[in-house]
Amino acid sequence: MTEQSGQNPALDNLLSESRTFPPSAEFAAQANATAEMYTTADADREAFWATQAEQLHWETSWSKVLDWSEAPFAKWFVGGKLNVAYNCADRHVAAGNGDRVAIHWEGEPGDSRTITYADLQREVSRTANAFASLGLTKGDRVAIYMQMIPETVFTMLACARLGLTHSVVFAGFSSEALRSRIDDAQAKAVITVDGQFRRGKVAPLKPAVDEAVAQTPSVEKVVVVKRGENDVAWTEGRDIWWHDLVDHQSDQHTAEAHDAEHPLYILYTSGTTGKPKGILHTSGGYLTQAAYTHRNVFDLKPESDVYWCTADIGWVTGHSYIVYGPLANGATQVIYEGTPNSPHEARHWEIVQKYGVTIYYTAPTLIRTFMKWGDHLPAEYDLSSLRVLGSVGEPINPEAWMWFREHVGRNQAPIVDTWWQTETGAIMISPLPGVTATKPGSAQRPLPGISAKVVDDTGEQVGPGGGGYLVLDKPWPGMLRGIWGDPERYRDTYWSRFGAQGYYFAGDGAKYDEDGDVWLLGRVDDVMNVSGHRISTTEVESALVSHPTVAEAAVVGATDPTTGQGIVAFVILRGGVAEDEAKGTEAITALRNHVATEIGPIAKPRQIMVVPELPKTRSGKIMRRLLRDVAENRQVGDVTTLADSSVMDLISSGLQSDK
Ligand code: WT7
Repeated sequence: MTEQSGQNPALDNLLSESRTFPPSAEFAAQANATAEMYTTADADREAFWATQAEQLHWETSWSKVLDWSEAPFAKWFVGGKLNVAYNCADRHVAAGNGDRVAIHWEGEPGDSRTITYADLQREVSRTANAFASLGLTKGDRVAIYMQMIPETVFTMLACARLGLTHSVVFAGFSSEALRSRIDDAQAKAVITVDGQFRRGKVAPLKPAVDEAVAQTPSVEKVVVVKRGENDVAWTEGRDIWWHDLVDHQSDQHTAEAHDAEHPLYILYTSGTTGKPKGILHTSGGYLTQAAYTHRNVFDLKPESDVYWCTADIGWVTGHSYIVYGPLANGATQVIYEGTPNSPHEARHWEIVQKYGVTIYYTAPTLIRTFMKWGDHLPAEYDLSSLRVLGSVGEPINPEAWMWFREHVGRNQAPIVDTWWQTETGAIMISPLPGVTATKPGSAQRPLPGISAKVVDDTGEQVGPGGGGYLVLDKPWPGMLRGIWGDPERYRDTYWSRFGAQGYYFAGDGAKYDEDGDVWLLGRVDDVMNVSGHRISTTEVESALVSHPTVAEAAVVGATDPTTGQGIVAFVILRGGVAEDEAKGTEAITALRNHVATEIGPIAKPRQIMVVPELPKTRSGKIMRRLLRDVAENRQVGDVTTLADSSVMDLISSGLQSDK
């Protein structure tokens, strides 16, 4: 396997990495996690998870930890009842911690807001009363299209409180992406804002909602938070300002307990086809694993830590490690609304210093961006409060890992490289700070309670030093419960590749080193990873061919020094389209913008090349491997399986003459 790793220099050099960093005795002595947890969990996995679940507040206890009789559809904590929002707010107030800060919110323009757990309980109660007054009832779906403001957290928790299933759509997605997600889930309401601050300017969000909702009859109400103060169009009877709806509500609300398997949220993620998958997560098992991993992987001490996860709430990292995990654990955290270089490139370090951040969880793409911006920036701020650093989203290259350790962690703070997916709901493979001797670039070991393997094509586990595919061979509490409305696709996508063994196929290549530690090698399917975001090649291809000048398109992820992968598109023009014009800067910009309109700015190709032909096998499958060679300026590989082996010459010579 690992066509991918074999072609990716950054990943190849990762495999020759041999440095290790054992935990300090001082850190180990105070760590939440212990080495015994691995043995305890191995001895009785279900008992281990039951112990973790007991850390939450249950209205009714479960009768069975795991029901796997309808595999691959799991039920965890069968018969148990709990309220997720109660666990994330009220419980901490009841325990006497109402005055503890839950959220230090920092707006991009420099405004800020401090929200204690008592405040959070009141705000969530108000919001829940408001949503109930709109006629929303348990089981209804609510779409959320908002940036990182406190109201986004209130909205998610109010949904959880009422048993409404939320579907957060990243605010960078287009109206078309929003429309298809609202439609797929048949959402009854959309919660949004007038506009968001991006790099010092207000970017309106409401117009995208107006466009989407014009074509989604399921939506009855649109609730709008005032943030950007930009002018908005208004549909009477449908639209309602947040402040008019929420502010006058009672701040008292009794939380009803919901079934452990009640649908908590749907989150759409890209697969290998054009249509995004609505990943379904439920309540009890999900919250158990989110809280457990957050406590142990980040060594959280709720009384003294200030935690900051820089992800956006629009992705699963924001769901599990800004909203559900940290709040279930009673953590104090920073939430930052804006971009890392607004108004200057040291904004993150300024925030770390301002709030005394102790745990900082971010993505390799951002670390590489910080490296580019310069070592002097973190050096100008007091970062001595930082004691645990985390990384997520893609394999972290050892250079970035070392830079993070040295310039942000002062060579002291342990780094946890956390592997997981939207589908897994929570962290699966990661070092445990205070326990694991870390290795730059390796996610290392499945967490206690989690089982994963690297297997070959036939599903046989490979030995030390061997490479293959990452599978999850035992069910876990936070696992997806399916794809919304499409049980067959759920089976096909995840459970058919290693169906004989009953393993979940993650879609990632991986290998073991000689110590048996796991190294992730990137996707083995047609999914790209751009700045830690999953984008399918097919999705971008369909966006391109929906443009009037494009007949056919092939998209590949090419290695990119900052974003991990960059999107490179090859397009064939429709007959009658003047080639010279279509190759011009203006036409190419228009095509790139077209993709942004169809999917969102994150899917904009880095590069578009107009070509006369695409390399295809005899069965008509596009050979992306060869296009990746072109995109990465490499000698083109083996062309013998092409239907027409001269195609690559044609492509290469055409591109040469353009230069
Ligand atoms: C894919 C999942 C998990 C939240 C963010 C992304 C890649 C994620 C790592 C890591 C190597 C990683 C995998 C995975 N990935 N974390 N620490 N090391 N690869 O969630 O959008 O569902 O993407 O991201 O390829 O399959 P997602």
